[in-house]
Amino acid sequence: MALHAAALLPSAFSTHKEGKSSASLKDSCFFGVSLISDHVKADKREFSSRKSPVLRVQAVATAPTATPAASQGKKTIRKGTVIITGASSGLGLATAKALSESGKWHVVMACRDFLKAEKAAKSAGMAKESYTIMHLDLSSLDSVRQFVDNFKRSGRPLDVLVCNAAIYQPTAKEPSFTADGLLPDDMKESDYPSKRLIIVGSITGNTNTLAGNVPPKANLGDLRGLQGGLTGLNTSSMIDGGDFDGAKAYKDSKVCNMLTMQEFHRRYHEDTGITFASLYPGCIATTGLFREHIPLFRLLFPPFQKFITKGFVSEEESGKRLAQVVSDPSLTKSGVYWSWNKDSASFVNQLSEEASDAAKARKVWEVSEKLVGLSE
Ligand SMILES: NC(=O)c1ccc[n+]([C@@H]2O[C@H](COP(=O)([O-])OP(=O)(O)OC[C@H]3O[C@@H](n4cnc5c(N)ncnc54)[C@H](OP(=O)(O)O)[C@@H]3O)[C@@H](O)[C@H]2O)c1
Repeated sequence: MALHAAALLPSAFSTHKEGKSSASLKDSCFFGVSLISDHVKADKREFSSRKSPVLRVQAVATAPTATPAASQGKKTIRKGTVIITGASSGLGLATAKALSESGKWHVVMACRDFLKAEKAAKSAGMAKESYTIMHLDLSSLDSVRQFVDNFKRSGRPLDVLVCNAAIYQPTAKEPSFTADGLLPDDMKESDYPSKRLIIVGSITGNTNTLAGNVPPKANLGDLRGLQGGLTGLNTSSMIDGGDFDGAKAYKDSKVCNMLTMQEFHRRYHEDTGITFASLYPGCIATTGLFREHIPLFRLLFPPFQKFITKGFVSEEESGKRLAQVVSDPSLTKSGVYWSWNKDSASFVNQLSEEASDAAKARKVWEVSEKLVGLSE
């Protein structure tokens, strides 16, 4: 499907096509725990005893992030662990780089192409000990489950999860299907001061904006397509039950991302203290997201955004914005959608009527739970 930003969650986008799951299981097993980079194996030892409070305290005390405050006997916090899906390029990579450079985070880059991710991290100049690459292909629920298992085995705490990965197939004539979700309960166990789950949204799913009014507009309708499973087998592959349209599928899935974030907030924020947020990082017209668009669009889109709409943001700037949502102490409001003004100051933005429809959010959640096998 068009989007995988809601990885690791009961998601509307991991549709199941019969007969493909066994192949993907093979793939995901091939990329097992053993593919965690060597430099991380050392790190793993640091965290492998997280069930033991005594050893955990030791790990914190010997962490290389100790600040001058620590040596003066003041309380310091350990490095946070953040998982970023789709960190091999664009926004995900820029965010991984910004967080790794802050020295306060260990970034788990959850990527489908291990070698591409390793190359990207190296060429971004990320310090080796600041990241781990773990295989995750969001087009397969088996791979998602394998990833969750591998992450749990790494022994790392889960402090922040960023659901960033996506694809955009505006010119596709036919839908493509995934081979076949989970709120990481571990996040509840994390002792990190500010636990966050972030799902990257977009202006294009919000019909209360100019960009969101460019046809085809997002519209989930009564969710009849989603309820049908989006398999393309005697049912529509579009959430609203209509004919397939790649550009609309992307926008619809972004609405689902923003609804899912709010439903998470309603269900979990009060009990867990986890901050749930979404954002529009700006138009990052140069990323790989547009790789499947026609060549003329790819040529003209960046200058159009830079000089006409002036909505363009560099990958570096967008990475800093998402990194803010991950770690800025002033951005702890839960259930909100962040945007930035022309001076790059963050503000809580208004979502469209559909993207803030609580009844629809609940229904998207419940149907998705069934589709991914988390409920009857
Ligand atoms: N670009 C914009 O203007 C813009 C604006 C608003 C929101 N966004 C959002 O920002 C997020 C990142 O997009 P981007 O612009 O940075 O695009 P990008 O450079 O194409 O990055 C997308 C990432 O998702 C990964 N991915 C795709 N399918 C996957 C799968 N099945 N399993 C695992 N990973 C997968 C890609 O992996 P590979 O490297 O292996 O392909 C890549 O790392 C998306 O949620 C997008 O909707 C972008």
